Amino acid sequence: MAQPRTADLIVMGIESTAHTLGVGIAEKKGNTFRITANAVDKVPHTRKGFVPRLLAEHHARVFKKTVAKALSESRKGIKDVQAIAFTQGPGIGNALKVGYTAAKSLSQFLDVPLLPVHHGIAHIEVGKWECGMKDPLVLYVSGGNTQILVLEGKRYRVIGETLDVGVGNFLDVFARDFGLDNAVDVMHYAKKGETLLELPYAIKGMNVNFTGLHNYCSAHYKPKIEKKTVRLEDLCFSVQETVFAILTEATERALLHAGKREVLACGGVACNVRLKEMLATMCRENHAKFGAASGEYNRDNGAMIALVGAKMLSAGKARSTGNMEPNQRMRPEAQEITWLK
Ligand code: FE2
Repeated sequence: MAQPRTADLIVMGIESTAHTLGVGIAEKKGNTFRITANAVDKVPHTRKGFVPRLLAEHHARVFKKTVAKALSESRKGIKDVQAIAFTQGPGIGNALKVGYTAAKSLSQFLDVPLLPVHHGIAHIEVGKWECGMKDPLVLYVSGGNTQILVLEGKRYRVIGETLDVGVGNFLDVFARDFGLDNAVDVMHYAKKGETLLELPYAIKGMNVNFTGLHNYCSAHYKPKIEKKTVRLEDLCFSVQETVFAILTEATERALLHAGKREVLACGGVACNVRLKEMLATMCRENHAKFGAASGEYNRDNGAMIALVGAKMLSAGKARSTGNMEPNQRMRPEAQEITWLK
């Protein structure tokens, strides 16, 4: 009886950018990449936001059991792993440092390459892998990031971005300012909204910003909500519609400018149904294919880091020397896309 073919490559990926400690495993068999494990352990949201020191303590505490869970999911032993990939940045310094130190220790123990991965590039690559896309225009939207990217040569270039805060962080801070828990609560309230209120609409070319919108909501609508002359549900609905319209308009402008035929939305905020609906409509009108990764891969996870690590290793240009230190402000342009033909 023929024996099943073993994988050509097996790479473990460690994600520790923010609230999630993720450990994933990706494999390559022939020309096919697949993800065989995606174990995550997330710090729950609180009204006070996250304390970096506590995130680091959490990631260190759950590291061993999350690695064990990933190995069990993929039915592999630690000695089957041929490289360790980790998130180099961007992210919260304390949290990144735990992932880096753990990844470095494991790679030294196993005597395998250590592969640094940009968090946003991993979101893009796992989205392309899942949606079967080749060369999309990318809208990358998460807590700390809001960028529009396009591949030029062997680098992703940022051609539009937020000039102040990431859209997810804006929604979280707005939520707390109005007595809600977080961005998810804003979306729940938005579903009960009926009236579209007038709000500032800040877009400059393909760049956007959100702080002015927040300040306007606080100054103009907070007193009205307290007096009950405006419903919080209507404000949340209006914020949702305004912010997602801004992002969709910037993406449409970038799509026409770059001349791409595919649009990929990735990052935690790309889980949002209303944003995906707006982007899908815009893509239909422009005869472009639209895709977004599933929630499992749009949320922070180690599988996407493992996938990029496997691609790097398969390209034969994986480096385990040079500057690997975590970089809180790492830009997408810093990562060479070595695995593209
Ligand atoms: Fe992320």
